[in-house]
Amino acid sequence: MSHTRAFPEGFLFGAATAAYQIEGAAFEDGRTASIWDAFSRVPDAVINADNGDVACDHYHRYADDVQVMKSLGLQTYRFSTSWSRVRPDGGALNPRGVDFYKRLVDELLDAGILPWLTLYHWDLPQALQERGGWTVRETSDLFAEYALDMHDALGDRVNVWTTLNEPWCSSFLSYTAGAHAPGHYSQAEGMLAAHHLLLGHGQTVRELRARDASLNLGLTLNLTVADAVDPTNPADLDAARRIDGQFNRWFLDPVFRGSYPADIIQDFRNVDADAVRQWQDAVRPGDLDVISTPIDTLGVNYYHGEYVGGRPPLVNPPAGDAPTVRPIASPFPAHENLYWHERGLPRTTMGWEVQPEALTGLLERVSAEYSAEAGVALYITENGAAYDDVPVTEDGETRVHDSERVEFVEAHLAAVLDAVEQGIDVRGYFYWSLLDNFEWAWGYEKRFGIVHVDYATQERSVKDSGLAYARVIAERALVA
Ligand code: NOJ
Repeated sequence: MSHTRAFPEGFLFGAATAAYQIEGAAFEDGRTASIWDAFSRVPDAVINADNGDVACDHYHRYADDVQVMKSLGLQTYRFSTSWSRVRPDGGALNPRGVDFYKRLVDELLDAGILPWLTLYHWDLPQALQERGGWTVRETSDLFAEYALDMHDALGDRVNVWTTLNEPWCSSFLSYTAGAHAPGHYSQAEGMLAAHHLLLGHGQTVRELRARDASLNLGLTLNLTVADAVDPTNPADLDAARRIDGQFNRWFLDPVFRGSYPADIIQDFRNVDADAVRQWQDAVRPGDLDVISTPIDTLGVNYYHGEYVGGRPPLVNPPAGDAPTVRPIASPFPAHENLYWHERGLPRTTMGWEVQPEALTGLLERVSAEYSAEAGVALYITENGAAYDDVPVTEDGETRVHDSERVEFVEAHLAAVLDAVEQGIDVRGYFYWSLLDNFEWAWGYEKRFGIVHVDYATQERSVKDSGLAYARVIAERALVA
């Protein structure tokens, strides 16, 4: 007997991408280098020395890509704008760059798809990095200026604005772990970058709100669920506390409560007291008021949980997050007592555990501790999986029978429905990603798309997961 679980009215189904990962046209129409153009040219920084010069050539194929979205029935599309396209070198406005986003938004609106715009998905203009990047305060101000330019151009047609995508990645993973652009290895820089990113977010929300009170404003965080190997063991519990503190609370607390978590400041101090002093000098009076400016929407990016302990595992679990071609430092404070363990869950080809039920728990927790009281709506702005897809030709068409991804999407949508049915205010889900694309330090090796991209021909083919997602959207229900 089949069992149908309906999504509530108004629940939005979408898919997400990001500028550097799909656009290509890296030096066209006035665009100049971003930190990812520079970093992808550093030997061993990216697998196979891949870069985003061409990517999915979406800059030229955006109209066809919007038709693919329409054929899937997507109600909304989350994309990011490239700062270096719109303000080359972080300077004056480039009308040709802005025009691309006007054309894209018009195409989306014509197709009846709601544009969901993210202002920063990791591609800082390289010229600004050369002036200190996110470690300096000037970058927060310039970010707000760039946001206002985008609003001038698109404010009449775009209602939903996300300031930052996953600031943990663009701070600690990039300036402390060395895994992402600009590839630095400094505790102080990671802390400074996180603060200036959040400050730029708060400034932008204030300025956009002052211009137009009807905008839907927010940011997207990569949130996780940290489970201690043995919840009765203090060292294991402490490992889970530190992971939760750095991924989740280091960003949620300033945005929702106007403070940084004291326990994590202490952890940072224990490893690098000088870094904490530099950071304290940078956090000026009033900054936390700016950062905690009320928002409307919190985007949750959820991929996997963390199973951690204060003691080494017997067998090292598969590596996640970055390829091993380049030395990667730990972005976590007090990392000498932090170990990932194996609990036998299935894993994607990123090495990430598949744990859909943790998403329900995460939404419950974020709602109970942060968003519900603030009246902030939750959206899953990213969730998805990389698998080793095998394209086959059947009746002259390219097909990808990605049954693991089909299961992944349906299981995570069910977990979201579990949260909805508990009364949690979750209003939408975006699959990451619409297209296979440039997966940062992993290059083109990892494929997350519900649409396959043949990089030699740029041919797009909807995978089985895309067809399955389209059915869910058409029926507005999960049918088991
Ligand atoms: C999060 C990021 O926002 C996105 O750019 C990335 O491709 C996916 N995770 C998958 O790693």
